[in-house]
Amino acid sequence: MNKILAAVGALVLLGAGYYLGNANQPEPTVIKVPAPSRGDFASAGASEVAAAAGKVSVRAWETPTSGEVIIVKDGESIQEAVKAAEPGAVIKIMPGTYRETVYVDKDNITLSGVIEQGNYPVMHGEGVRNDAVLYSGNGFTVENLYITKYKGNAIMGQAGNNYIIRNNIIVDTGVYGIFPQLGKNGIVAHNVISGIEDAAIYVGMSDNVDVVYNQVFDSVAGIEIENSRSALVEGNFVYNNTGGILAFITPGLPIKTCGDVIIRNNFVVDNNHENFAIPGSLVSNIPPGTGMLVMACDDVVIEQNIISGNDSVGVLFTDFSLAGNAATDPDADPNPNRPKILNNIMQDNGKNPAPLVRAFLATQLQTRGPDFVDTVGMDDGCILNPERFRTLGLDKYGDCDFANTRTVLTYTLPEPVPPRVNETNMEKGKLAYYGVCAGCHAYGSRMIGPPTQIIQALYMDNPEGIAAYAANPVRKRDDYPEMPPQAHLDEETRLAAAKFMLGLTR
Ligand code: HEC
Repeated sequence: MNKILAAVGALVLLGAGYYLGNANQPEPTVIKVPAPSRGDFASAGASEVAAAAGKVSVRAWETPTSGEVIIVKDGESIQEAVKAAEPGAVIKIMPGTYRETVYVDKDNITLSGVIEQGNYPVMHGEGVRNDAVLYSGNGFTVENLYITKYKGNAIMGQAGNNYIIRNNIIVDTGVYGIFPQLGKNGIVAHNVISGIEDAAIYVGMSDNVDVVYNQVFDSVAGIEIENSRSALVEGNFVYNNTGGILAFITPGLPIKTCGDVIIRNNFVVDNNHENFAIPGSLVSNIPPGTGMLVMACDDVVIEQNIISGNDSVGVLFTDFSLAGNAATDPDADPNPNRPKILNNIMQDNGKNPAPLVRAFLATQLQTRGPDFVDTVGMDDGCILNPERFRTLGLDKYGDCDFANTRTVLTYTLPEPVPPRVNETNMEKGKLAYYGVCAGCHAYGSRMIGPPTQIIQALYMDNPEGIAAYAANPVRKRDDYPEMPPQAHLDEETRLAAAKFMLGLTR
């Protein structure tokens, strides 16, 4: 003890000696201020979840299993195994190549790849199949798969709660990599995803999800939190996408809010990829070089990320002005309310802004893209240490009254939640239309597919015709991409969606 004290003393003396011995050096300025008394993050919902989570270890639950194990070998079919499985079954998939689409509509199913000396079970879409894995069951785990060359989705969920999507490698699978939609209580962790022409990870209309420790690159949008609440995006490595991490409201969807999103401890680096999204899609509007984009999503916390080398802007807060075609929705609030910027490391952002950003900057008499920009100029935002960053439009931001969100260990709930009740009380057709078709069809304008108005004119009193086309689309228009088959929806659902589509008036 005394030795340590002595050593410290010697160090202090050395320090003093240094200054004494350099009398011509300016004296250091030492100002003593009381440490600011900032608490932890304490929004009601967040702390409740944190308190609950504190009772168990982080992300503790697993998909319940019954002891039944089904082994699928190279040359066999995963779908056949799912058909044979009872709820609670674990389906082990041996290394090999599986050329199929797998639908899981039972509860508590685990699809678990077996990796042997680096050899994965490969699901191969051969450039013709739309989806690799589709699930709607409650309680679902998919892990250890290598998925490639599908045209639509690698892993997509519809209204399944308590899902775990982890340790998958997803390469070049079309529109979406991992796409849980309308689910509650989910984990998307330790996946490696690249080459996706919309969003590599796309959490849509969901609640209580952790998107953690994924590697996401060479895609248009890296990680997208859309019309969702209570999402933790942490520890991801996000690089060489057009836009890195996005939290936003897509106008026109039946669930119209987005909020309580914590984006922390991520590496968001060099997201300068050219935008290769399908023309007309929402993400086709993302300017290359966008580190993060928060559009109309509320209470987004940006904390301790390393955000560097994004050529247009580090972090962009905006309203629907970027949303292009789909921008009208009188029921959705366009403002990114209460943005919260805590400490982050920013370096080398904004060096070569994309034309859209350049044009905006010109109106502000600027040429270089900022670290943080708020195009709305919110007056309820906060930022710590604003003097460290190049900012634009943050003049009305105040100081944050908390410095970190460490009380929030996870946004998943400690116990599995019951199957989703249809909270929006939507009938089947409306749900399917907004959940599936509206991703590509807007009422009066061109998106990925032709406007719903045009389809109404073509099909008038013929919902059966629409349903049949949706199950088995044929190429009709040279200036549109092919429509992917929607055969994963059963016939009744397709017909209900078609009827809803014909009845739309705006
Ligand atoms: C991933 C995008 C996408 C999704 C999802 C999608 N469509 Fe389409 N849809 C298209 C595209 C692209 C076309 C144009 C295809 C063409 O003309 O070759 C199209 C065309 C159509 C047509 C016009 C057929 C014709 O005879 O001209 C109908 C009807 C249609 N879609 C119905 C649906 C329904 C119903 C759903 C939901 C169940 C749906 N679509 C989901 C992209 C999509």
